[in-house]
Amino acid sequence: MGPKVYATVLALALFAGGAQAAAIDPNMGGPGNAAHGEALFKQHCSICHQPDPGGKNGVGPALYGAYGRRAGQAPGFTYSDNLKASGLVWTPQLLNQWIQKPAALVPGAKMNLAPVSVAQDRADIIAFLATKSTNVVKAEAPAHPAAAATTHKKAKKAS
Ligand code: HEC
Repeated sequence: MGPKVYATVLALALFAGGAQAAAIDPNMGGPGNAAHGEALFKQHCSICHQPDPGGKNGVGPALYGAYGRRAGQAPGFTYSDNLKASGLVWTPQLLNQWIQKPAALVPGAKMNLAPVSVAQDRADIIAFLATKSTNVVKAEAPAHPAAAATTHKKAKKAS
C-alpha cells in the first residue's frame, strides 16, 4: 500500500487506541497553583475529605499525608478491598487519573465524585495535596510510549 494509505491506517489505529483510553485524560496541566487548588478542593472534595493534620475520616478518608503514600493507609477508614490491595502509591500521575474516574484506575473503588474535567484544575488540586503531605514523589517516566519517543528524539536532536 502507498504511504498515504499506510498513514490513514496508522491514524485509525492510533485513534482506536485513543478512544479506548479516552475515559481518562492523561493531560496533567501546567505547574499546579496550590492556592487555587485549595479553593477547588473545598468545592470538589471537602464534602467527603479533610486535608489538614489531625483531620478526621468522613465519607472519605482523612487526606493529610496521602500524597506520595501507598493507597489505603488512613487509620480507621474502611476502604474498598481493591483500593486497599492495589499497592498504588499516590503520584501526581495517578491522582490525575483518580480524580477523573476512580473506578477506571481501581475497579470497585467507592469514591463517587463529579469528575474534575479541566486538566489545570486537576494540577492545582494535586499541588494543594502535595502541600498536605511531607512525602516526596519522584517524577515518573511519561506514561505514553509515543511521548517517550518524542522526548528521546528531541534529546538526540539537541545533542
Ligand atoms: C462523595 C465523596 C467523595 C468526594 C466528593 C471525593 N472523595 Fe476522595 N475518596 C472518597 C472515598 C469513599 C474514598 C475511598 C475509596 C475506596 O476505598 O475505594 C476516597 C479516596 C480518596 C483518595 C485515596 C486516599 C488513600 O488513603 O488512599 C484520595 C487521594 C482522594 N480520595 C482524593 C480526593 C480528591 C482530591 C477529591 C476532590 C477532587 C475527592 N477525593 C473527592 C470519597 C470522596
